Amino acid sequence: MATERTLSIIKPDATKRNLTGKINAKFEDAGLRIIAQKRIQLTKAQAGKFYEVHAERPFYDELCEFMASAPVVVQVLEGDNAIAKNRDVMGATNPADAAPGTVRAEFAESVGENSVHGSDAPETAAVEIAYFFSGLELVG
Ligand code: CDP
Ligand code: MG
Repeated sequence: MATERTLSIIKPDATKRNLTGKINAKFEDAGLRIIAQKRIQLTKAQAGKFYEVHAERPFYDELCEFMASAPVVVQVLEGDNAIAKNRDVMGATNPADAAPGTVRAEFAESVGENSVHGSDAPETAAVEIAYFFSGLELVG
């Protein structure tokens, strides 16, 4: 299996409820290493650029408002098959469909306020990591 890196975001609903440590424990228990991490406050414009791919979707404006509503923790996770592994740890987008034990099953409040983001492919992971981190900040 290839070692990969993926971009993870602990979203405002989770940072507000002091869940950063509990979510990070799930990543680490799954064998994902947190090789970079910072807590930041996004502007709506910065959130909009990050989620540009969803610009035509009906939930886009609400999503951008939400992502700028409180601090987020952006992080790079590294490990074997990290992109798919992180998606497994996260669970389905809608917490009602998320498997037991996943972050979203345990912590998400709704399909929109669903506690975590994770990249979905190697190409998007590379772009999303570069959006938040310089090469000097990635210490594997
Ligand atoms: O985050 P994930 O990759 O699982 O889902 P997505 O389809 O890429 O959607 C990005 C984000 O948009 C989700 O995580 C939700 O926060 C939000 N969303 C929403 O508010 N309503 C939907 N029907 C679908 C997604
Ligand atoms: Mg996605």
